[in-house]
Amino acid sequence: MTTQVTHAVIPVAGFGTRMLPLSKSVPKELLPLGNRPAIHYVVEEAIAAGIKHIVLVGHAQKSAIENYFDVNAELDNQLRAKGKDKLADSLNWLPVDVSVSMIRQGRPLGLGHAVLQARPIVGDNPFAVLLPDVVLNPFTTNLAQDNLAFMIKAFRESQHSQILVSAVADEDIHKYGIAELKQAEQLERMSGDENASFAVAGFVEKPSLAQAPSNLAVVGRYVFDACIFDYLAKTQPSVGGEIQLTDAIDALISTQGVDVTTMLGDSFDAGDMTSYMQAFIYFAQQQLAAR
Ligand code: G1P
Repeated sequence: MTTQVTHAVIPVAGFGTRMLPLSKSVPKELLPLGNRPAIHYVVEEAIAAGIKHIVLVGHAQKSAIENYFDVNAELDNQLRAKGKDKLADSLNWLPVDVSVSMIRQGRPLGLGHAVLQARPIVGDNPFAVLLPDVVLNPFTTNLAQDNLAFMIKAFRESQHSQILVSAVADEDIHKYGIAELKQAEQLERMSGDENASFAVAGFVEKPSLAQAPSNLAVVGRYVFDACIFDYLAKTQPSVGGEIQLTDAIDALISTQGVDVTTMLGDSFDAGDMTSYMQAFIYFAQQQLAAR
């Protein structure tokens, strides 16, 4: 078994109802944040952390996402014929040793089910999962060393699956998977300007504030041992009638240790209209200032 994490699974099958009408004919993952589609930053984050195989889990209406990562030979030829080589080069930014493929999730049975669809490609390898609604701030963190890159290193050292968490406001707790810590004093290790990783007791998917065991929310970045697939295959639908990734993680905790990694920097919810618009403005401002 390898401990190298070179696969990343990115579920892109969601319909993006919170982003209508923008997402009616354009996949929400391709909506712009500043001068790039949102998913561009998520894939850049994965590549910076050492990922070589990106596995998108989608369906027929999402094939434009796969096309975004492909070489458009006709466009490339046209641009070069007009002497626009620099522009053509900028479109072919994906490193040659990185592959992007798409696998289908035939039915929308939940996030856990989406991740399980990647099994034929990922096989027995440990892998990362990145939820593309969540875009980590690339302007304030070092993608080659923080967050996902840190989680991959922590996994290699501990062999414990890693789940990225971040503190959220009380009114937002019901939107997330919430971590239950083994010891309350672990919270003290959350401040500071480094990621920290420590064992977790469990997770509750989208609890009410009264039921929430902490205010630490699952952000949408995971590094898993391949055995999570075995648990996913056995997971029954629960919250919202869906096969939840959180339930499989809970089962994994009972047999192997699972750690939470505290998030460094901030993140944007690009799947919610209000925070998407705020994120767009922030990304555009950063990019205009850098011109
Ligand atoms: C999913 C996960 C949840 C996590 C969230 C992060 O929920 O099930 O545990 O906190 O992503 O965005 P979803 O937003 O798909 O409902």
